[in-house]
Amino acid sequence: MKIDKILNDRKYIECIYELINDKILSLENFSHHKKTTRLRHSLKVSYLNYRICTFLKLDARSAARAGLLHDLFFYETKTYNKKLYGKNHFRQHPKTALQNAVSMFEINQTEQDIILHHMWPATISLPQSPEGIVTMLVDKYCTLTDIFDMFKKNSRL
Ligand SMILES: [Fe+2]
Ligand SMILES: [Fe+2]
Repeated sequence: MKIDKILNDRKYIECIYELINDKILSLENFSHHKKTTRLRHSLKVSYLNYRICTFLKLDARSAARAGLLHDLFFYETKTYNKKLYGKNHFRQHPKTALQNAVSMFEINQTEQDIILHHMWPATISLPQSPEGIVTMLVDKYCTLTDIFDMFKKNSRL
């Protein structure tokens, strides 16, 4: 996915514009899935969420916003502190992301569901909304593409 395509999609940018601040942009400083950054991964999930939920006539705005916020945690995964955050990063980071999102923005029910359940089955309880199901699948797809993109040298996210 090309970043230009995302940034030139005006309707999409309108959905996430008010979330963009220094704290969100600082996600660019954290690596994610080895070779990408948390900001790039989150943008990819957010934009794919937006496109799919628009196509399915779901709440594309909430899906775009929560996609951007779903991995909102500010530590390197490899330096995860079990004492500080809990035993299992895969199960715990959605709760941390939601706490961070709620402390920074007004987050609606659908957005909460998306953030909290995107790691299913690690989170045990399933997403309750169709947008949450879309995000759970999109995040896994993006994780795979992040891993495969490790082997490519181009300008993709
Ligand atoms: Fe995650
Ligand atoms: Fe993710």
